[in-house]
Amino acid sequence: MEFSVKSGSPEKQRSACIVVGVFEPRRLTPVAEQLDEISGGYISNLIRRGDLEGKAGQMLLLHHLPNILSERVLLVGCGKERELDERQFKQIVAKSISTLNETGSMEAVCFLTELHVKGRDTYWKVRQAVETTLDSLYVFDQLKSKKSDQRRPLRKIVFNVPTRRELPTGERAIEQGLAVAAGVKVCKDVANMPPNICNPVYLHEQAKLLAEQYEHVEVEAVNEAQMAELGMNSYLAVGRGSVNESIMSIIHHRGGPQSQAPVVLVGKGLTFDSGGISIKPGEAMDEMKYDMGGAAGVLGAMNAIAALKLPINVIGILAGCENMPDANAYRPGDILTTMSGQTVEVLNTDAEGRLVLCDALTYVERFNPDVVIDVATLTGACIVALGKHASGLLSTHNPLAHEILNASEQSSDKAWRLPLWDEYQEQLESPFADFSNLGGRGAGTITAACFLSRFTKKYNWAHLDVAGTAWISGGKNKGSTGRPVPLLTQFLINRAGIATEE
Ligand code: BES
Ligand code: MN
Ligand code: ZN
Repeated sequence: MEFSVKSGSPEKQRSACIVVGVFEPRRLTPVAEQLDEISGGYISNLIRRGDLEGKAGQMLLLHHLPNILSERVLLVGCGKERELDERQFKQIVAKSISTLNETGSMEAVCFLTELHVKGRDTYWKVRQAVETTLDSLYVFDQLKSKKSDQRRPLRKIVFNVPTRRELPTGERAIEQGLAVAAGVKVCKDVANMPPNICNPVYLHEQAKLLAEQYEHVEVEAVNEAQMAELGMNSYLAVGRGSVNESIMSIIHHRGGPQSQAPVVLVGKGLTFDSGGISIKPGEAMDEMKYDMGGAAGVLGAMNAIAALKLPINVIGILAGCENMPDANAYRPGDILTTMSGQTVEVLNTDAEGRLVLCDALTYVERFNPDVVIDVATLTGACIVALGKHASGLLSTHNPLAHEILNASEQSSDKAWRLPLWDEYQEQLESPFADFSNLGGRGAGTITAACFLSRFTKKYNWAHLDVAGTAWISGGKNKGSTGRPVPLLTQFLINRAGIATEE
């Protein structure tokens, strides 16, 4: 797909389609009005007859308007003018794009980016338009014997900005939007891949593909033998029931001076989580292929920042592992000695993510990180607390938490902070080991983060629980969302000090 920005008037466009908004009730946007005038009142006539009310998401495709150079005009209902918010903006862009793609327009000039969206600037509108376009055209059909090939797919789209002065902003928004969207696609592709193909070694192969593309990116692996030497017994225990070897990938993005302390991202990479001996119920168990969503998000963000060549040092860790029941599997009651030396009593083998992450979090101490953010589909409790709209954010370092929430707000990739008070730590007490891997009934997301916090004392740390946001469950819409790639990428763009506002 090709994107560009322009600042032009609608009647001068010679394109397969021009996309313009109509507000509710039957009120033309300034651009629609211009077209109306040139076409001798064609649009206002239609609207007066009741063809389009202007409700958000309504679409009306017109052909060959008098005196208009473009072949088609797509009228898009935008709802009430004063209520146009970011969510509605993304919805109308997504719907316009699928309409264009399905009705044979291979190119279009879109004026929706000129609409006023509450609290958002031109940069945001263009970047979201790019991301939303590519998001809504995504399909995962690599494993279908017949591909769903579109006869005349949308190939080229021009977003219009209100003034020529905003063209450089728009161009930057396209560049950064394309990088985020490419990262989102990498994330989705690897997350949607079935678990008989996407195992920990496959994850590592994807990391290597990234390193092959860029001079400044390098990849290392820590395999099971090396983990044993390092004392990563907790990580190893989780993978012991699987015939697929555990492997931890380390991706170095060397964009800053050598002396600069890196940002470290650690992704939970359970390529399948059956629960192990504490096996999960059968319903929707297939979706536990997405339990590597954290690692997929880290890989996606590393792809995005490599494309942008961000001038900072970032290390991405993919903690690849598979949790299976087996004669050799770890069991409830086992006591594991983690790489940190702390001992853990396993009360449930399905609370495996924290057991993998704790050793990865100890491992990254060697990089003397500036900050560490782990990303994990860690708890079903997070879905109970926040549903599918926001990722859970937990942190022991307020400035870092605020930085992440800012990035979340800027990128419209929602996150919501939950407390990490010491009171909750008591729920992890064990009579036999230093603590257990289970926090009991209440506050499952918080006690899971409490567990991790015991391994992150040497640096500033935050944890993102993406259990509810990494994929869409059930039905025919099932699939990876590519989250939290936009949030992570924005966080790193901000760290690199690259401008995104006007
Ligand atoms: N990967 C799951 C969490 C999960 C479940 C994410 C469903 C998304 C959807 C994690 O490994 C897990 O099984 N967590 C348990 C923890 C419990 C045993 C303390 C859970 O959430 O039930
Ligand atoms: Mn589990
Ligand atoms: Zn899991």
